[in-house]
Amino acid sequence: MKKTIYVIANWKSHPETVDEATVLLSQYKTSSLPESLSVIVCPPAVFLPAQVTPGQVVLGVQDVAENNDTCTGEVRAAQVASIGLQYAIVGHSERRARGETNTQVNQKIRQCLSAGITPIVCVGESIRDEVGHYVAGLTSQLDVTFTGFTRMDLESMIVAYEPVWAIGSGATRECTVEECRETIELIRAHLIHMTGNLPVGEIKVVYGGSVSPDNARGYVTDGGADGLLIGRASLDIEKMKSIIQSVG
Ligand code: PGA
Repeated sequence: MKKTIYVIANWKSHPETVDEATVLLSQYKTSSLPESLSVIVCPPAVFLPAQVTPGQVVLGVQDVAENNDTCTGEVRAAQVASIGLQYAIVGHSERRARGETNTQVNQKIRQCLSAGITPIVCVGESIRDEVGHYVAGLTSQLDVTFTGFTRMDLESMIVAYEPVWAIGSGATRECTVEECRETIELIRAHLIHMTGNLPVGEIKVVYGGSVSPDNARGYVTDGGADGLLIGRASLDIEKMKSIIQSVG
């Protein structure tokens, strides 16, 4: 059986209107999808329907609250689950840039797991220096973000390797396939080490950062990624269709 490839669309704070969101989502749903693909669309929460029906294109949220305290503007993982959703992005670098810590991301993962939501956990270095200092920063981010989880917990998550320097309109350059592969191997090895070297199961790691129709396939075929987390290109259905075809 072909392994599942995850294509995760992170619409961030776009589009502006519900009409545009409805059209875009219906274009996703009518695209022909290879069976081995799982497409997860994460629109702004305000555009989520009250009850979600399952399908090959499923919906997720872009964040959840770290606990069940009363807090204006927060959405809880249990609420996300209650409308039939299964996925939540947590720890995106744009949220970390606003002060979210690894410890908070760890708590968000816990909230997701206890609500039966699969967290899509974003990790990645801010700067990639030539001599490899970034490795220490990345592993300490992993240490705190994933502390206290078992191997089984890890298998219920999707980890997203998102080098901050390759994300969004501020990207300095694209991540090469080799950099993607090396870092995903490092992430997998570190997580296996953290969970006590239990037998190698499946730790799903996707890649995100300036994914386009031109580079998508390389990250999946040679870059060691189990899929892609896509920002800007996810708002353009033609780009998404060609990305989907290239990795399916
Ligand atoms: P990008 O964003 O594809 O626009 O670089 C990726 C992300 O932020 O997840």
